[in-house]
Amino acid sequence: MISTFACGEFQETDRTTVGAIPTGPAFAGGEACARCHRTETDLWSVSHHDLAMAEATAATVLGDFDDTTFTYARTTSTFFERDGGFFVRTDGPDGELRDYPIAYTFGAELLQQYLIEFPGGRLQALSICWDTRPAAEGGQRWFHLYPDEEIDHTDPLHWTGPQQN
Ligand code: HEC
Repeated sequence: MISTFACGEFQETDRTTVGAIPTGPAFAGGEACARCHRTETDLWSVSHHDLAMAEATAATVLGDFDDTTFTYARTTSTFFERDGGFFVRTDGPDGELRDYPIAYTFGAELLQQYLIEFPGGRLQALSICWDTRPAAEGGQRWFHLYPDEEIDHTDPLHWTGPQQN
């Protein structure tokens, strides 16, 4: 992935340096940019922007995945860890409960969302988020983005639908 990344105009001017054109979209990761953009990488890594999206690991996941449950619209979702990965058992596109591995974290301050991979290269954002504020400020809890509605799998706003892609 790193060697196949081609960057904007650079690709036009020097294809031999950047190598083959990528065969499909893939997450390159910040390291892929650092060897040519050292200054930008140093500035970026101390900003909050480097926390915008990350692979879900023990280092990046802030939510409580210790078999925690959250009930919304008559569905109880469970957040848990298995084999070193992070999972949510929640309602899928047909409303049935399923276990979904968390692929990426999305954001880090005030709230953190979780992205789940679906066929066709889709990433869907779970509507249940983790409030990352300290407990004293009302945080450290799961909450739903549409607390006053009852969004189920038939709703266009359901987390598996195009609106949450
Ligand atoms: C092999 C070296 C190389 C790598 C790797 C590389 N870039 Fe670049 N990038 C360049 C060069 C050279 C330019 C300037 C091109 C120009 O001005 O014609 C550039 C320009 C850019 C620009 C435009 C900056 C502007 O002022 O318009 C952005 C944005 C950018 N790169 C982002 C990235 C990102 C994000 C990555 C990693 C995913 C990356 N680059 C990886 C060499 C690289």
